[in-house]
This record gives sequence, C-alpha cells and structure tokens, in this order.
Amino acid sequence: MKITEALFAEHLVFHNMFDHIEAAAPKLKTVAEVKTLAGLLEALLKAHSDTEDELFIGPLEHCFEQIGQRDGFLEEHQEIDDSLKRLQQAKQFKKARQLLLAAVSYSRKHFDKEERIVFPMAERVLNSKTLAALGQTWMEQRTRVTPARRG
Ligand SMILES: [Fe+2]
Ligand SMILES: [Fe+2]
Repeated sequence: MKITEALFAEHLVFHNMFDHIEAAAPKLKTVAEVKTLAGLLEALLKAHSDTEDELFIGPLEHCFEQIGQRDGFLEEHQEIDDSLKRLQQAKQFKKARQLLLAAVSYSRKHFDKEERIVFPMAERVLNSKTLAALGQTWMEQRTRVTPARRG
C-alpha cells in the first residue's frame, strides 16, 4: 500500500470521529466528559501527525519549501496538539467544550489541506516504489507492539 493511501484511510477514521465529537458536544455535561473525549482525540491525532512528520515531511521537504509551507505544516501539527493539551487545564465546562470544538474545526481544515495539496503533491513527486516503501514503514510502525499494549 502507498503511504498516501494509508494516511488517507486514517483520515477517513478521523472524519468520522470529528463528526461524532461535533454531534456529541451539545449533549456533554461535565468538564471531565469533555476532557476524556479530548484526550482520546489528542492521543490518536498525535500518532497520525508523528507518522506524517517522520515519514512524509523528510522526502517532501524540498517541495514544502518551494510552496512555502514547510514550517506551516509542522506548526499546524504542533498547534493542534498544544490546543488539546491546553484544554486539559480548563476549569470551566463551557470553555473546555469551546476549545474542543475549535480543535476539531482546526483539524478539519488541516486534514482538508493535506488531502487537497500534500497527498497529491507526494504522489506527483515520489515514485511508486518510494510511496510503497513508506507505506511498508507505516505498516510496521502501526503493528509494532508497544509496552502499554503488551501489559
Ligand atoms: Fe497532518
Ligand atoms: Fe493527516
């Protein structure tokens, strides 16, 4: 599988999760509920963004530089992660829920940009052998048994 197909498949799961969070938000009642949802989103997004940073940005660095997007792209991953971490400090329910919805909306824009610009750019610039090799690395990373899962 090509790395772009693997990442796009992950995006589909996130789009479902974003829909779910937005639909569930009006029914949430406590700060703890908001933080639990945000924590789940943070952990899953982190794994996805780290993969993109590690596997994708390196081989495409010169392209990102050409379109002036390199720092912006990395910063967006950091920004999403930071905003979900900040949310964990929130004391007020309404503030926490507002931060969660803002993080979802920002993530949607980021994902959209990747699907419209970054993934097609990768498919244009990298040859199919490289895309498949990166896909294989992705597969190995995802199936690696972590200490937490072993316990
Ligand atoms: Fe990303
Ligand atoms: Fe992504």
